Amino acid sequence: MPLKPASDYAPRKEDLDPIEIASRDEISALQLQRLQSTLAHAYDNVAIYRERFDAAGIHPDDVKTLDDLARVPFTTKAELRASYPFGMFAVPREQVVRIHASSGTTGKPTVVGYTQNDVDMWAGLVARSMRAAGARPGDIVHVAYGYGLFTGGLGAHYGAEKLACTVIPVSGGMTARQIQLIEDFRPRVIMVTPSYMLNLLDEMERQGVDPDACSLEIGLHGAEPWTPEIRRSIEDRGVMHAIDIYGLSEVIGPGVSCECVETKDGLHIWEDHFYPEIVDPETGAPVADGEIGELVFTSLTKEALPIIRYRTRDLTRLLPGTARSMRRMQKITGRSDDMIILRGVNLFPTQIEELVLKTDTLSPHYQLERYKDGNLDALKVHVEVDAGAAGDDAAKSAAAASLVSKVKDLIGVSISVDVHEPGEVARSEGKAQRVVDKR
Ligand code: DLL
Repeated sequence: MPLKPASDYAPRKEDLDPIEIASRDEISALQLQRLQSTLAHAYDNVAIYRERFDAAGIHPDDVKTLDDLARVPFTTKAELRASYPFGMFAVPREQVVRIHASSGTTGKPTVVGYTQNDVDMWAGLVARSMRAAGARPGDIVHVAYGYGLFTGGLGAHYGAEKLACTVIPVSGGMTARQIQLIEDFRPRVIMVTPSYMLNLLDEMERQGVDPDACSLEIGLHGAEPWTPEIRRSIEDRGVMHAIDIYGLSEVIGPGVSCECVETKDGLHIWEDHFYPEIVDPETGAPVADGEIGELVFTSLTKEALPIIRYRTRDLTRLLPGTARSMRRMQKITGRSDDMIILRGVNLFPTQIEELVLKTDTLSPHYQLERYKDGNLDALKVHVEVDAGAAGDDAAKSAAAASLVSKVKDLIGVSISVDVHEPGEVARSEGKAQRVVDKR
């Protein structure tokens, strides 16, 4: 059955926060006022910011326009790590009501803290994101993001409560049981990574759940890059609209930006709380709106952990507002540190994802293996054949050959492909691990 039209889910204008549809001038004026007080708060209360501002010869009072922000030094994960655990907090520890942390692959985790006002602001922005995605007060919301130090579970949870929804705090894992809960509790909204959503949809099929009878109508998917092809693959199953939600713990968690269901044309950044910039990832020089580069954020209202010009490593570009006045960021294509350089060719896992999904008889579950072939770096794609072609060796060879040739033609590099039986590639229960490095 086709999905209900997306326009049916668009919120009424009177239900929006007025600033979402305010004029650009109003938004910029609010940003400048909030930016100036955030810079002063950071300078006065965080030693590392004061030292770095002083070394760069800039004082918060020198920032008289939004463009002056470009003179302020960047913040990177390195500063957060160096201040582990609580060294970048700008308020006494007793005022911090919540800690989250991101694990990171090496070394100490990055710790972030929230005052009560920060938690309230964050919940308000997740609620705003959910409303943009088509959720409403009174909805039943299934949260399958992990609960714990990761911001996904609790971030979604508090936002859904703030929107006055009934929250089911399932967390990740126990996939068969998730389907049971969806059948029994009949949630209208699900919040889960896109890779785990695909896994859940397969499990639903395996259990014989009728997509037409499934209660889900809206999915808010984020925490990892996902292509428009994945959206199509979710929506084509006729269950629900798939909406992109973005965020990172250093900036707040989920709810920094989100798509609107009626447009699905990029993620509106909640610019009343986060000021975005795009810079050249190599030189750090600002680039104009519309050009691709590294996304940089400055928080405008955070108390416990004001974050100034934070280098996210995420690559995207800024676009003007459409369904809301606030600027959009294009769907993230990847992180600068996820880029694979193979015999001089740069490629991102999302480029392979797009081609996997354009290959008939391949399922969207894939993993990339980096290995050494003699002295050379090489790449192998592990992917599954569709359930319909299970056990069909000829179909598997044809699919592998087709993917090899698409990657050669469109990305310009030779790779190898192993097509596995359904269920043989590691399934995601949260953030998918797309690349395994065996070099
Ligand atoms: O992943 C917060 C989050 C939770 C966002 C749930 C959305 C939904 P971190 O664990 O700190 O926080 O990881 C942040 O994940 O810098 C991006 O590289 C990536 N990421 C997050 N959302 C998206 C998205 C959470 N929608 C890092 N598209 C970010 C692409 C995303 N990448």
